[in-house]
Amino acid sequence: MAKSDIIRQLSEHFRRQNISNVVVLTDENVEKHYPDYFSDLSEDVSVDKIVLPAGEQSKSIETTVQIWQYLADKQCDRNTFLLNFGGGTVSDLGGFVASTYKRGVRYANVPTTLLAMIDASIGGKTGVNLQLLKNAVGTFYFPDIQLPADISFLETLPGEEVLSGFGELVKYALIGSAELFDNLCKMKSLFEIRTEFVDFCINFKQEVVKKDPNDLGVRHILNFGHTFGHALESHAAEIGKPIAHGIAVAQGLYYESRLSMQHGLLPKAEWQRIADFLPKFFLIPEITPDFLEQLLPYMQNDKKNHDGTLNFTLLDRIGHGIPDYAITATELLPLSGLLKEFIH
Ligand SMILES: NC(=O)c1ccc[n+]([C@@H]2O[C@H](COP(=O)([O-])OP(=O)(O)OC[C@H]3O[C@@H](n4cnc5c(N)ncnc54)[C@H](O)[C@@H]3O)[C@@H](O)[C@H]2O)c1
Ligand SMILES: [Zn+2]
Repeated sequence: MAKSDIIRQLSEHFRRQNISNVVVLTDENVEKHYPDYFSDLSEDVSVDKIVLPAGEQSKSIETTVQIWQYLADKQCDRNTFLLNFGGGTVSDLGGFVASTYKRGVRYANVPTTLLAMIDASIGGKTGVNLQLLKNAVGTFYFPDIQLPADISFLETLPGEEVLSGFGELVKYALIGSAELFDNLCKMKSLFEIRTEFVDFCINFKQEVVKKDPNDLGVRHILNFGHTFGHALESHAAEIGKPIAHGIAVAQGLYYESRLSMQHGLLPKAEWQRIADFLPKFFLIPEITPDFLEQLLPYMQNDKKNHDGTLNFTLLDRIGHGIPDYAITATELLPLSGLLKEFIH
């Protein structure tokens, strides 16, 4: 979808909903590349803009207070519409502001990162961090309109950010579409990401969220790769060598696919396809017994676990995930030490 479709859909929506006052929330990088993106919105709509420093540190309660104050100073009422223009940092923060200012104003996301297009901008989870506690405060609050994704934004997105979003994209293929996985296997570079890949992920997440808006069961399928992924991400941050979320997830996909094979769920040949594919794009760390021991506490702290077991989403074939599969820490041991033979 192109910019013109997004602007047309927004203009129509504003006309239908009698919206005359729009506040765009964006960050300095997006502002630098796309300063006039919304200049073609209908003349009946006045557009103000808030430009935040780029990066996760803007996703804070302090920034939230500043935005509430800005809106109050501008005398924004409940008929104000918030347009979150950026990656997941902007949509999480902006969604949270929208859900709280004047007990809730309408909003929409125009995602500019791959991760936000296929994940953060869908599903109604909003929130901010409390210092180091990620997403500690937040709400479920759905956008007023779900706009199409415009993958031309990826042309300016740094390669590392594209790769991070690609980790999540591979996740959708593994849990939801063997055909998408076949297509990903044909890719030679990240420049070959296509709109239909992104649209598949958006539709898949929307369907799952519709069945389980409050994240109580079915939605856990989206956690594939995330039990290991979060542990790897937290561990990397703690030792001062942070890795991007989606890259940690891709590493998690590798180990959780292998776990699926070891539990007799995923056929060996399918595991081998995954093991061949992921290292073409992602560096997969070796998990020695020592490293596994370091990762376990992070996994055990994960809110998804209960009864002392670890709760994984696993695969029984490429394109089909099984949520909430309980595994004990001891059952993870075969993952360590034996890995070199699988890494090409
Ligand atoms: N609500 C949810 O369901 C959900 C799901 C997944 C992730 N998240 C949240 O999303 C956040 C991460 O999102 P993200 O990866 O999009 O990060 P981000 O929003 O911080 O963007 C990453 C970087 O890319 C820059 N950028 C964005 N679009 C650009 C473009 N088109 N061209 C050039 N630069 C651009 C940004 O300025 C930033 O520096 C995290 O806070 C995470 O918790 C939320
Ligand atoms: Zn994720």
